[in-house]
Amino acid sequence: MLFDLDALPVASRYKLLTSTVVPRPIAWVVTQDAAGVLNAAPYSFFNVFGSDPPIVALGIGNRPSGAAKDTGANIAATGEFTVCLVPEDALPAMNITAADFPAGVDELAEADLATIASTKVGPPRLAASPVALECTLFKTVEMGSHSLVLGLVRAMHIADAAVMDPERCYIDSTALGLVGRMHGAGWYTRTGDRLEVKRVSAAELAARKEKTGA
Ligand SMILES: Cc1cc2nc3c(=O)[nH]c(=O)nc-3n(C[C@H](O)[C@H](O)[C@H](O)COP(=O)(O)O)c2cc1C
Repeated sequence: MLFDLDALPVASRYKLLTSTVVPRPIAWVVTQDAAGVLNAAPYSFFNVFGSDPPIVALGIGNRPSGAAKDTGANIAATGEFTVCLVPEDALPAMNITAADFPAGVDELAEADLATIASTKVGPPRLAASPVALECTLFKTVEMGSHSLVLGLVRAMHIADAAVMDPERCYIDSTALGLVGRMHGAGWYTRTGDRLEVKRVSAAELAARKEKTGA
């Protein structure tokens, strides 16, 4: 079935995109306002977009009133944030931090979240998260009702239990127990269901063809 996004209302476009581009990783973003009040909120318009430089992107919408969300306002004010990834057992706390608290409320206290100091940025990381990225603002691209916030990843913290070989940077991704966002307002998926497809070169593919005569 064809859906013409040029002709559809915003809410329909949102539903179509977010129920098909799945699963999406979730950035649990910690920021501070100018007075130092901590804020945390989940953002699933999120991914990594390169390693040289190491860049992550967040798609931050406005509140229904048109006002900026605290995460975006805080990043604009301080230029710093941490991105914590979400394990299954932290989903209830993450969900609390997604509630529409007014600005100035310490959402970490509301969700009873412990923090650990960061090494390069002011906002701390969440103790509940097995992976945290310390980020500084790289660039903001305004896109209508959304801002695309690009962050430069300055440091990463990964739970020791998931680090198989620190020299080679081998990480046991499954051991992180992370979740991704699926369709609708409250659906998630686990990341433990893996399958492997080995990469092939063009030369290998040509050799296979030669062998089978296909
Ligand atoms: C799993 C999840 C993912 C979300 N992803 C986004 C997102 O990518 N962009 C966005 O603007 N809001 C997103 N939200 C909604 C925000 O988390 C919510 O508006 C929150 O109150 C914003 O908090 P803040 O004002 O403290 O930044 C998401 C909510 C949940 C539960």
